[in-house]
Amino acid sequence: MNRIDRLYMEMIHYYQGDPKHIQHFVKVHDLSRLIGQSEGLDEDTMYVLEAAALVHDIGIKVGMEKYGRSDGKTQEAEGPAAAREMLTALGFQERVIRRVEYLVGHHHTYKDIDGLDYQILVEADFLVNYFEDGLDKEHIKKSAEKIFKTETGKKIVKDMFFPEIFQKSETWAQEALQDLEDFIEEQGIYIRQ
Ligand SMILES: [Fe+2]
Repeated sequence: MNRIDRLYMEMIHYYQGDPKHIQHFVKVHDLSRLIGQSEGLDEDTMYVLEAAALVHDIGIKVGMEKYGRSDGKTQEAEGPAAAREMLTALGFQERVIRRVEYLVGHHHTYKDIDGLDYQILVEADFLVNYFEDGLDKEHIKKSAEKIFKTETGKKIVKDMFFPEIFQKSETWAQEALQDLEDFIEEQGIYIRQ
């Protein structure tokens, strides 16, 4: 098992008994990986991004245990040290740990995004949170216009939440035929078979 997968298992263990938070980071990690791959990230950046995506919300548990709250600021304050401890125990390089700490400590801050790893982590987290928080389309649209910068992220948010109205459904042919029949009936036109 490679180091990223060991971290994956460690995070599942860290959030044991809390499937909601486990499934959150599983989704954020997978979308980060997908966006990173299709945006052509180099291997090093991809590695940092995957590690950061797995641990990005590690501060929620620390915040809840210490203060009984897990708002964005608390997460950003408490997350980096917890991430450092876990990554160090698993033998990650200092260079990787430092960048992951930074990303964990800034992932709720959307100004001054200073790299593709940061940008993609934020996009993946938003894609998952829009759904998990049950945001309405108007909110999602306004937020997405500001947040999404990568072509892949923009395509995914559009496909997931704003499929084109004219996009054909599986049954579009039958629906179109039914519409035509209704129209004909309305108009009182008889068509010989
Ligand atoms: Fe998150």
